[in-house]
Amino acid sequence: MGQKTLVFLLLVFMPILAMATTYNPDFLGLMSLKDDWKNTPPSWTALDPCSEWEGIECTGSRVTSIKLSSMGLEGTMSGEIQTLSELQMLDLSYNKDLTGELPPSIGNLKKLTNLILVGCSFSGTIPDTIGSLEQLVFLSLNSNKFSGRIPPSIGNLSKLYWLDMADNNLEGPIPVSNGSTSGLDMLLHTKHFHFGKNKLSGEIPEKLFSSSMKLIHVLFESNELTGKIPSTLGLVQTLEVVRFDRNNLVGKVPSNLNNLTSVNELYLSNNKLSGPLPSMTGMNSLAYLDMSNNSFDVSKIPTWFSTLTSLTTLMMESTGLGGELPVDLFSLPSLQTVVLKNNQVNGTLDIGTTYSNHLQLIDLQYNSITEYKKGLYNDTLILANNPVCLETDTGTESYCKVSTDSQSDGTSTYTTLPNNCVPSTCSPNQISSPNCRCAYPYTGILEFRAPSFSDLGNKSIYKELENKLLTSFQSHQLLVDSVALSNPKKGSIYLDLNLEVFPYSRNRFNRTEISEIGFLLSNQTFKPPKSFGPFVFHGDEYENYQVISTEPKKSKSSIGIIIGAAAGGSVLVLLLLLAGVYAFRQKRRAERSSEISNPFVHWDSNKISGDAPQLKGARWFSYEELARYTNNFSAANEIGSGGYGKVYRGNLPTGELIAIKKAEKESKQGGLEFKTEIELLSRVHHKNLVSLVGFCFERGEQLLIYEYVPNGTLKDSLSGKSGIRLDWMRRLKVSLGTAKGLAYLHELANPPIIHRDIKSTNVLLDDHLNAKVADFGLSKLIGEDDKDHITTQVKGTMGYLDPEYYMSQQLTEKSDVYSFGVLMLELITARRPIEKGKYIVREVQKTLVKNQDLYNLQGLLDPSIGLATKLRGFEKYVDLALRCVEEAGSDRPTMSEVVKEIENIMELAGLNPNAESASTSASYEDVSKPTSYPYPPNKETFDYSGAFPPSKIEPQ
Ligand SMILES: *[C@@H]1O[C@H](CO)[C@@H](O)[C@H](O)[C@H]1NC(C)=O
Ligand SMILES: *[C@@H]1O[C@H](CO)[C@@H](O)[C@H](O)[C@H]1NC(C)=O
Ligand SMILES: *[C@@H]1O[C@H](CO)[C@@H](O)[C@H](O)[C@H]1NC(C)=O
Ligand SMILES: *[C@@H]1O[C@H](CO)[C@@H](O)[C@H](O)[C@H]1NC(C)=O
Repeated sequence: MGQKTLVFLLLVFMPILAMATTYNPDFLGLMSLKDDWKNTPPSWTALDPCSEWEGIECTGSRVTSIKLSSMGLEGTMSGEIQTLSELQMLDLSYNKDLTGELPPSIGNLKKLTNLILVGCSFSGTIPDTIGSLEQLVFLSLNSNKFSGRIPPSIGNLSKLYWLDMADNNLEGPIPVSNGSTSGLDMLLHTKHFHFGKNKLSGEIPEKLFSSSMKLIHVLFESNELTGKIPSTLGLVQTLEVVRFDRNNLVGKVPSNLNNLTSVNELYLSNNKLSGPLPSMTGMNSLAYLDMSNNSFDVSKIPTWFSTLTSLTTLMMESTGLGGELPVDLFSLPSLQTVVLKNNQVNGTLDIGTTYSNHLQLIDLQYNSITEYKKGLYNDTLILANNPVCLETDTGTESYCKVSTDSQSDGTSTYTTLPNNCVPSTCSPNQISSPNCRCAYPYTGILEFRAPSFSDLGNKSIYKELENKLLTSFQSHQLLVDSVALSNPKKGSIYLDLNLEVFPYSRNRFNRTEISEIGFLLSNQTFKPPKSFGPFVFHGDEYENYQVISTEPKKSKSSIGIIIGAAAGGSVLVLLLLLAGVYAFRQKRRAERSSEISNPFVHWDSNKISGDAPQLKGARWFSYEELARYTNNFSAANEIGSGGYGKVYRGNLPTGELIAIKKAEKESKQGGLEFKTEIELLSRVHHKNLVSLVGFCFERGEQLLIYEYVPNGTLKDSLSGKSGIRLDWMRRLKVSLGTAKGLAYLHELANPPIIHRDIKSTNVLLDDHLNAKVADFGLSKLIGEDDKDHITTQVKGTMGYLDPEYYMSQQLTEKSDVYSFGVLMLELITARRPIEKGKYIVREVQKTLVKNQDLYNLQGLLDPSIGLATKLRGFEKYVDLALRCVEEAGSDRPTMSEVVKEIENIMELAGLNPNAESASTSASYEDVSKPTSYPYPPNKETFDYSGAFPPSKIEPQ
């Protein structure tokens, strides 16, 4: 991070955590979302959600947008989302493992304009509070598992433009307003009613439609609606797509339907409609008319059929249609498909000579046609089961066979072809793009709910769609190379097309790009060519992200400063030379690695790392040796992991156990830093600090060997995972041990060390429940020139982090004191510092009443602390913890003061603070059996992250 960036970051982010002892409420809200979700982006471990978390956008320090489509998120939606009160955009589409109900508190997001949850698995009823989102413009809850009724309160969303609830299990009537209750009829600005594929029942209220509405798409297909089509439908002059097919509608089709002169697609099929067909004269935009499977009373083919000048598709199977087909019907210029199966069409079929040159299917099976006047028309015609095909001279004609032509079964074989290039042979899972580059495409299905065409074999429509998609991606600054479509398929209701989107100039997208592409499609920012009609995209999860180390830049401040200060080419040349020599030697060394036995020779040969490390007590291990002790670093020996790499348990030949931390490639430091680190660690010896046993620096591997602490982390004990019950006395003892370890680091180590990441996963417990502080990975020497130095990167863990340090970037011992204060509160409550959006420090401060028993904190305490017995010294302990988390570092005690105070409390509580393991072990009889329970209980929280540079900040 350059100085400029740093200054910039300082200016921009200082206000974020500006409230000392309270974190930004938005961050707490995000933390609760994160808590409830699996598979959040790896960047969600960074300290500053606004600048570093993928999918999050902020204005100032407030979160305004969350876009996480196709992320593979798993879990439920926390009610704490309500804390994000400035949120405008929420898109969680295409995360099919997001489940559970929508929390009613979502109604508190008063600024929300877009709520998009397409293709998740949310269930339960849609909360009525959704009607409080008064700024909402775009509401897409389609393709989930919502049940129950449509909340009438949706009628209050006066700004709503898009309402999509299709493809759920919604039931009950369509709500309309009635005196005091709201209803969908009030949505005068809404253009889209998408309610298909639900279980809505009851009659469609007359009141639903009015001439004041601006609806263009009304989709109620595939429900259980009964009654008549309301005549008020004819008042909505703006309508373009109307689908009421696949319901149980009865009665006459309203005669004013032909007032809807903008309608392109009209689907009334699969109902129980009856009576005469209304005249559709004047519906000059009508392209797709499907009235199949009703019982109309039409003994004569209506003459207005031939006046529908835009018609591409006429579907009237099984409708009772009778009479002779007029020859001019086939002259409609755009006509592609005429399906009049199973009717009483009679007389002669004459297609004429001026028939539409788009005509590709005429299906007249099961009619009463007696003669076919053969002309030039040579595309698909089906007359099977008509009298004309029963005659011996014509019965063998091809039109008398039931075609198995692809056109009539609703599929086509379109696939985007290469753009004048030869497809590449790609490694597994990669696909050759239309521009013949191998990449991992983002995929999904585009579903068109009412296309105006029926000829699926027309390649030019797909080309047009491809071009529009590509242009749309590019005009939104998305680096897309090309898009490919394939496998168009007309199922019973919709037209589906496979979509592949290829990245430009790289072989994969990153998470930000995926969520933006997903958003472009989920938010309907992309408009397909008009003939495709309304669409919905069903995105797949994208799994091909680069496996990036969560590791930010290494803290190579010293090297950075040298380079910066010298800024001369000569230094660079020198460094390059050294690097070359280093590489050469590395190679040679690898060739003779078997000979190597002396680490210090090894170290000598490495110019960059300088002289062999000056160690106190720690020893060198060979890689082979360590491999042997850990059964070749087998998974069974793995006892923990973190951003830096993994921790293994090793068995020394003496039977002694060790913990070996093995850095992953990304976490490795330069030889010099590694050396500094082990020199430092080897000097630190205290019974409350996990001590370094040795190291290994060989074959490009960096390993640190620690003493093995058998009872796992404090967090495991607090969470109940380890099976150790911590009563009040034990908790005091643990806090004392931790405080002593820290006091040693601050005041006795030479040079002094600031830990920088005190938390319950970094405190380990031994057989006698002595606390041992681990993880000096973030440790900072308080060196000569370091004292006033701005550290280049704030490190720590959200929840434990000292807000003053975050703001000032000025690191002092008092930051550890703050974290220790948080840890003290964690010790009595067994709650994580930030849990369900609540910050422990604030919760304690809020609840605390000085003159009451236990300061009124009973409700917050961990029950296993033993509330039945008197917690002697409890109030003094809380006083101390709260002094540690004072806003100003200068108001906090030093660690040695903390030690003294805890000792006082313990004496008050009747415990001898200086009692050593022998006596304590007697009183902790159930603990001194390390072998009696498997170690460690929980891999994830076990964190020995020691001397490797830290991975990014881990929020808890
Ligand atoms: C048809 O629309 C016109 C306005 O374009 C309106 O005056 C007329 O009343 C409507 N007819 C019916 C039957 O709704
Ligand atoms: C066709 O059917 C109609 C009744 O649906 C009848 O009036 C007409 O005469 C029939 N025409 C022929 C040629 O059979
Ligand atoms: C159908 O007829 C057109 C001319 O009207 C001709 O170009 C085309 O090749 C014919 N197709 C077949 C399959 O015979
Ligand atoms: C993702 O890719 C875009 C380019 O499309 C780039 O600008 C952005 O920085 C990348 N984000 C991350 C986190 O790498």
